[in-house]
Amino acid sequence: MKKFAIVLAAGKGTRMKTELPKCAFPILKKPMIEYIVENIEKSVVDESVCVIGYQKEIFENMLEGRVEFAYQEQQLGTGHAVMATKDLMAHKRGTTIILLGDMPLIDHKIINKVMSYHCDRGNDLTVVTTEFENPKGYGRIIRNEYRNIEAIVEHNDCNDEQKRIKEINTGIYVVNNSDLYKVLDSIKINERKGEYYLTDIVEIMKKDYIVGTFVLWDNTKVMGVNDLFSVSVAEKVLREKINMFHMLNGVSIINPETVTIGHDVQIESNVTIYPNTYITGPSIIKTGAKVGPNTEIHTSTIHENVKVKHSLVHDSEVHANTVIGPFAHLRNGASIGEYNRIGNFVEVKNSKTGNGTKAAHLAYIGDTETGNNVNFGCGSITVNYDGVKKHKTMIGNDVFIGCNTNLVAPIEVGDNVFIAAGSTVTKNIPKGALAIARNKQINKADYAKNFIRPKDDQ
Ligand code: UD1
Ligand code: MG
Repeated sequence: MKKFAIVLAAGKGTRMKTELPKCAFPILKKPMIEYIVENIEKSVVDESVCVIGYQKEIFENMLEGRVEFAYQEQQLGTGHAVMATKDLMAHKRGTTIILLGDMPLIDHKIINKVMSYHCDRGNDLTVVTTEFENPKGYGRIIRNEYRNIEAIVEHNDCNDEQKRIKEINTGIYVVNNSDLYKVLDSIKINERKGEYYLTDIVEIMKKDYIVGTFVLWDNTKVMGVNDLFSVSVAEKVLREKINMFHMLNGVSIINPETVTIGHDVQIESNVTIYPNTYITGPSIIKTGAKVGPNTEIHTSTIHENVKVKHSLVHDSEVHANTVIGPFAHLRNGASIGEYNRIGNFVEVKNSKTGNGTKAAHLAYIGDTETGNNVNFGCGSITVNYDGVKKHKTMIGNDVFIGCNTNLVAPIEVGDNVFIAAGSTVTKNIPKGALAIARNKQINKADYAKNFIRPKDDQ
């Protein structure tokens, strides 16, 4: 028997009050819908359809080739959204699981479990339910005296007694595919909301079909995200899960509630992460590294025993035993060699440094390649931009760049060069040279008094 999934993601998500459609909103930098589709891909499901409508292009680009798309031009409710899959799905035979695009914590094991439960029980419709201590906002499960499900009533349609029911509709349903499309047309519009509720299929189907429930005891994986507060709750759950995974693998995380690690980050054991640190994108942190506090690392590789504190590292690589920070900014393909020291308001962009290179204070290194053991004095700058184009600076091995030096690119500096402090260097410097490019100092004897007014005049 074939297994299908339908994911409803056509809604705007009015309660989010964001520009992006709700199901595309990122949680730990990954769009909500991705979580659902990834778990479907890991499950027993053979084919999936995603119902899209509001800003559909976003989902088409995101999920191209992974799901089929059904279009709901006007968002007239969850029942109406499933109707939009009719042409694609109604002729197919098999079992269909319906999922909502706003349940990012869903797990493929739940999908597998409820689908096999549905088939084993011989149900025609299985509604997945759970209990919440505070069920506000969810549809309530109404049961009869035999504990059989009778109906689902939306929070705003509940009377006071129904509002006290803690068992809720998770929004996951398993249904025999051919039966689904026979009953959908019978859903009537909900006058209060002007929508066709999918939840109505319970009352419709229970007359002629076997309708059952699957009660999930762990409610954490099925929370519905409807507003930015629930985004933060879902994010917290995911963050804790990822941090726990790394901690159990030998990563020491100090104050883990302040540390955010993305899904695609690899961290080796014997790494320490200090508070207020974000590591995202496909980043790799190698053993012995110490990262944070107050640090952001995105799509970067941090090699063995590197220290990065109070700094930003984006799209860059830092080789072993180097110290970055405090307050450094590496970006656009910066590749820092071994045993470097880059800190205290130093920016490195699209540049490669050799081993043992130092830029410890107030420097800008852009579009530059250095050899080994180069010392950038405080305030040195590679002047890479002439207002129109970017130019390269090439620096050899064992070069000393005095404080407040400007290296006006394009420029080449040979090995073993010494540049006097305060130089503005516009010509290449050959190997072994001392370069001085500044005005000579003049000391005028006894002259200072002409500029110093007596105390009384002030
Ligand atoms: C829904 C259920 C509720 C359940 C809760 C679980 C209904 C009527 N209510 O309520 O019983 O407890 O989920 O989280 O089904 N969507 C469309 N097209 C539409 C409307 C919605 O595709 O016309 C999509 C949305 O993009 C969203 C999903 O369906 O991903 C659920 O819609 P939402 O508005 O969040 O429903 P809830 O009010 O949370
Ligand atoms: Mg919802």
